[in-house]
Amino acid sequence: MKHYFKGGAGGRPEVVGAWIRGAPLKFIVPRGLFSSSKVDLGTALLAEFMEIPKEGKVLDVGCGYGVLGILMAKLNPNLEVYMVDVNPVAVDAAKRNAELNGVRVTVLQGNLYEPTDLLGIKDFSTIVSNPPLAAGKEVVKEIIEGAPARLKSGGSLQLVMAQGGDWAKGVMEEYFKEVEVKRKKGYALLRGYV
Ligand SMILES: C[S@@+](CC[C@H](N)C(=O)[O-])C[C@H]1O[C@@H](n2cnc3c(N)ncnc32)[C@H](O)[C@@H]1O
Repeated sequence: MKHYFKGGAGGRPEVVGAWIRGAPLKFIVPRGLFSSSKVDLGTALLAEFMEIPKEGKVLDVGCGYGVLGILMAKLNPNLEVYMVDVNPVAVDAAKRNAELNGVRVTVLQGNLYEPTDLLGIKDFSTIVSNPPLAAGKEVVKEIIEGAPARLKSGGSLQLVMAQGGDWAKGVMEEYFKEVEVKRKKGYALLRGYV
């Protein structure tokens, strides 16, 4: 199993504000986490692009300090939002940020789908991710290959890729009935439906 994380390098946490899809959001971010000084551009693009289901369970894989999962919970309080990160510092930050933004979510520490598999969840309406490219393509492949078995019929996997968008599209086409790609500011935004 390959993954990476940078711990939280000490020092004062950053306070990051963002206004996404009409929702004012605020995050307290330990230094050293991914994009700790501002919401990452890829994350912001996926946040604008992603379809947010009307109901059901959703999963943010590699949630970091929580932008995507917290936004989904904020925009649709009916959703059951799960967020997973391998880095305990990110998990802790995501939990505190959920509270700060007044949303109820479940944040779990662990590798990719393992924490939600342990809860027996196999019926997500959508899985979203700004995947850990720094951990290598294998991890992205695991996210893509593993998604269909954890989605309910008609559900989707939604990804942003800063690089390797064509490769990811090819992999998704093997596993999903329908794949859409939109390119914006050098990023690929991908959506696959089962
Ligand atoms: C590119 S960052 C995105 C963070 C956050 N979603 C955002 O958009 O700001 C990828 C995240 O994946 C996490 N990660 C890396 N390997 C992982 C694994 N095997 N399982 C779960 N999370 C992982 C990292 O700790 C990091 O927080």
